[in-house]
Amino acid sequence: MKTLTTQVAILGAGPAGLMLAHLLHLAGIESIVVELRSRQYAEQRIRAGVLEQTTVDLMNDAGVGARMTREGLRHHGIELGFRGERHRIDLSDLTGGKCVTVYGQHEVVKDLIECRLADGQPILFESTEAALKGVDTDHPSLQFIYRGEPHEVKCDYIAGCDGFHGICRPAIPASSITLYDREYPFGWLGILAEAPPSREELIYQNSPRGFALYSMRSPTVTRLYLQCEPQEDLSQWSDERIWDELNWRLTGADGWTPTPGKIIQKGITGMRSFVAHPMQYGRLFLLGDAAHIVPPTGAKGMNLAIADALVLSQALTGFYIRNKTEALAAYTAGCLSRVWKVQRFSWWMTSMLHNFADDNPFDRQRQIAELAYVTTSRAAATTLAENYVGLPLMT
Ligand code: FAD
Ligand code: DHB
Repeated sequence: MKTLTTQVAILGAGPAGLMLAHLLHLAGIESIVVELRSRQYAEQRIRAGVLEQTTVDLMNDAGVGARMTREGLRHHGIELGFRGERHRIDLSDLTGGKCVTVYGQHEVVKDLIECRLADGQPILFESTEAALKGVDTDHPSLQFIYRGEPHEVKCDYIAGCDGFHGICRPAIPASSITLYDREYPFGWLGILAEAPPSREELIYQNSPRGFALYSMRSPTVTRLYLQCEPQEDLSQWSDERIWDELNWRLTGADGWTPTPGKIIQKGITGMRSFVAHPMQYGRLFLLGDAAHIVPPTGAKGMNLAIADALVLSQALTGFYIRNKTEALAAYTAGCLSRVWKVQRFSWWMTSMLHNFADDNPFDRQRQIAELAYVTTSRAAATTLAENYVGLPLMT
């Protein structure tokens, strides 16, 4: 067994693990990142695409925002579509000038990996059979196989950044954790298409045949989603059927339709709301999807993961630089007060925009009234806008 020693062992090189590693490095704290997948896989995994103003500010402050600033698309509004019409929510006007930036999660991951390797810091890609040891002692360690050889990282703390299906959350005894969970009776079918965006802003569309989302990645690539069955069989969705359904749901009274193009990626995403409480146990801390999941309708998953990294990096800095453990003890509370507000927002956007099979005509009218209210009341639109651009960190 090869033994390595560090201050913080980080399992998972997604947005949470990579941002944590970078913020710790800036504070002079050592870490080793251990990742199951290859660098190429991590850099090509297509997922979320909207960065809150708070995430953009953090990326810039941490010195990893240069390419995002050059290539990201700044959006000052979104559109809500229903009853055949679209209504703009002016994010910047309603939030004192804030906006969101459309920049793919895999681009964030690429930038963070490049920065870490340029700093000469380790990411052990393609590490298998990870196991946590002694998280309830003062000497935890992370064991795994790397390049065919058993390894052990001895450390002070372990950061569980290994996503919803990872091993870190299950390492907490069931008697020491409460799980809050809600599954939705639908999923999203997402596509990437080689088609220039034909509209400048995102459209969140409520239609009688279900939700649709019009988004983009660059001046040549659009990203679109359709509400579908949770266990939808992708083989039943030819490119032609996907475009027909998108056109049906997105076309309004003005006749606009998305510009079609070659579909270069397709996938189904399940929808759930999930929170683990607490987000820590002994010397183990959970971050991002390992601790909480939101349905994607508010575009919050990656942003929450990055916010956790900030909270934990500050708490660890308090410990290593000022010898104070209070912020580490308060890590769960520091994250969850904001996480629950973001859960509420993501649930609300999801409920307002999707078709629920058991909705009756009353529910349907109430849903439309909610959309009509949000798009005509400045007070209601402001609550949407301030959540969408990102609630203040550390609240
Ligand atoms: P992840 O990005 O999941 O990173 C976890 C990392 O840990 C991965 O690199 C994984 O390979 C690694 N890992 C896991 N197990 C192990 C192990 N045993 N050993 C070593 N490494 C391990 N959010 C949105 O807002 N909008 C979207 O459209 C959207 N689409 C999504 C589509 C999919 C298919 C998924 C799964 C999520 C989507 N999300 C979306 C959510 C968003 O992408 C996540 O919230 C975000 O990735 C969370 O970051 P993370 O770092 O916590 O976890
Ligand atoms: C995208 C994903 C979301 O979940 C969302 O709410 C908006 C945009 C996207 O992938 O572009």
